[in-house]
Amino acid sequence: MAIYDTLGTTYGRTRQPDPRVAAQIHAALGAAADVINVGAGTGSYEPPQTVLAVEPSHVMLGQRPPGAAPAVCAVAERLPLRDNAADTVMALLTVHHWSDLEAGIAELRRVARRRVVVLTWDQQVFRERFWLVRDYLPQAAAFDDTRAVPADRLAALLGGARQVPVDVPHDCTDGFGAAFWRRPHAYLDPQVRAGISMLAQTGEDALAPGLATLTEDLVTGRWHDRYADLLALDSIDVGYRLLVADV
Ligand SMILES: C[S@@+](CC[C@H](N)C(=O)[O-])C[C@H]1O[C@@H](n2cnc3c(N)ncnc32)[C@H](O)[C@@H]1O
Repeated sequence: MAIYDTLGTTYGRTRQPDPRVAAQIHAALGAAADVINVGAGTGSYEPPQTVLAVEPSHVMLGQRPPGAAPAVCAVAERLPLRDNAADTVMALLTVHHWSDLEAGIAELRRVARRRVVVLTWDQQVFRERFWLVRDYLPQAAAFDDTRAVPADRLAALLGGARQVPVDVPHDCTDGFGAAFWRRPHAYLDPQVRAGISMLAQTGEDALAPGLATLTEDLVTGRWHDRYADLLALDSIDVGYRLLVADV
């Protein structure tokens, strides 16, 4: 069973694509004539010129909206596609789930005629800048240490890539890990946590002490005192990165 057959049951509810994040991704795609989306999930951020989505989870495929690009059930490590099948191949927030990263990246490069775009995060930056994992949930940071792909390693596998920071808006509609950086109460919602693999896979027992402290800090006002600087910001860079490789 694909891992997102378990993790992805509520994805469509908490993970709506954010237009500002979409603009950053679409700028990285450039003037792509056609796009293949690998690890496509429910279809977030697919531009109109998407010709195919590749996704191993039937639960995720079942949440693709009507009218979305055609999709095939397959993994990145073995793409059922010919060489040079599309101008650009994108893989968004997915490489950390792959069982064989090297094979998957080699497949992206084989299938792309012109460009590969990968959205991931720099774990070192994320750990240092994101208050939730730095100050409340070190267990989640430790879990991410085991699976995060260092940006430099990814860039090397891509044969060289430019790294573009992706800022997270304060009201981001795509509920990924740091989306609620200015809305701390959201992390107390089990449905929000279920839509964030870092938290869902760390497990509720391990998160419980940190969430209890967060609850208390929100009740007493300590959180707002401690992070007053954040409340004045509209967006932040906590380590999300687009890697853009011309092949
Ligand atoms: C966090 S979701 C991201 C989905 C989508 N790209 C987005 O940005 O909303 C991660 C996706 O990667 C998929 N995935 C996991 N392992 C994979 C693999 N080996 N090859 C391709 N996709 C995979 C999951 O099924 C899931 O849909």
